[in-house]
Amino acid sequence: MCSMKNILVSIVLINILQLETYLCAKNNSKIIMEDAKEKYRFLVTGGYRPKIDNLAKYVVSIREKKYKRFFGDDHYCAGSIISPKVILTAAHCVSTAQYDLLVVAGTPRRLVVTEKTQALKVDRIIIHAGYEPQTNRNDIALLLLLKNIYEDGVSAQSISLQTNILPPYTKCTVLGWGRIFTSGPMPDLILHADVYIMPTEFCIERTSRFYFGMMCAADEDDFEQNACHGDSGGPLICNGSVTAIVAFGYRCGTPVFYTNVTSYLDWIRENSFSKLRHVNFILLVILQIFLMKGV
Ligand SMILES: *[C@@H]1O[C@H](CO)[C@@H](O)[C@H](O)[C@H]1NC(C)=O
Ligand SMILES: *[C@@H]1O[C@H](CO)[C@@H](O)[C@H](O)[C@H]1NC(C)=O
Ligand SMILES: *[C@@H]1O[C@H](CO)[C@@H](O)[C@H](O)[C@H]1NC(C)=O
Repeated sequence: MCSMKNILVSIVLINILQLETYLCAKNNSKIIMEDAKEKYRFLVTGGYRPKIDNLAKYVVSIREKKYKRFFGDDHYCAGSIISPKVILTAAHCVSTAQYDLLVVAGTPRRLVVTEKTQALKVDRIIIHAGYEPQTNRNDIALLLLLKNIYEDGVSAQSISLQTNILPPYTKCTVLGWGRIFTSGPMPDLILHADVYIMPTEFCIERTSRFYFGMMCAADEDDFEQNACHGDSGGPLICNGSVTAIVAFGYRCGTPVFYTNVTSYLDWIRENSFSKLRHVNFILLVILQIFLMKGV
């Protein structure tokens, strides 16, 4: 009997410890990320707007739940719809936030509420366990929405994950509401930029931190075209599928580093539907009731 009680006490303590570690880590990562915000938030600079935009329907704007002065002024990252309930984004976009995010889908306009605008609350944030803010490793996360996005195929739609291995110099498109030049304004209407997947050697030469799961893209003839601050988390779309996530860069108008979606297919699939944390919390409550009764 006594040993049973000890086991239960240990389990409860471990759970509390995990909770504390989680809270502390959250606190620390906040400090790290406040600095990183300046360096690593990217959006489209040197971009263009196609006459008919077939890609904006896949992209969402990620915001804080309360805008400051007008709708959309709190946009700070983007994401892609990979199922009606799941948004794919960068870990650095959401590692400091919890439960106070708003996902806005259905409109290429950042600042205007149209009849197609869908604002959705986030139920859970799932950050890759190997995410390292200092090195940008595994900069990938999922947002599980409280309600499904209504997909009409025109204004909002899920995009498939890239499963093909694409060769270097494949032409792709990055799009978002990021700054139109370094420290410049963010646009109301989403912007596109066409960039090419660069060979790994090219990427390695341009950062001291290049790890598995990273890739980079640029237009060698026009470095001005790429993601810039505010584009983070958004998709690099190649051959109709989301191939990479805007992750980090050193300046707008230089090659941008992305998280390679194809490297994380298993992680994305495993985590898109998991509800494990709810189960853990229920277990913790049951254990505590059990323990109190036993004492
Ligand atoms: C978080 O950081 C602040 C200031 O750095 C500190 O006062 C606070 O106690 C910390 N909270 C936790 C849970 O560690
Ligand atoms: C592009 O996508 C099509 C179908 O969506 C596929 O058949 C084709 O192999 C893909 N191309 C490359 C280079 O992966
Ligand atoms: C992306 O990841 C896949 C799977 O790990 C890999 O085969 C592919 O070469 C990567 N793409 C780039 C551009 O590094």
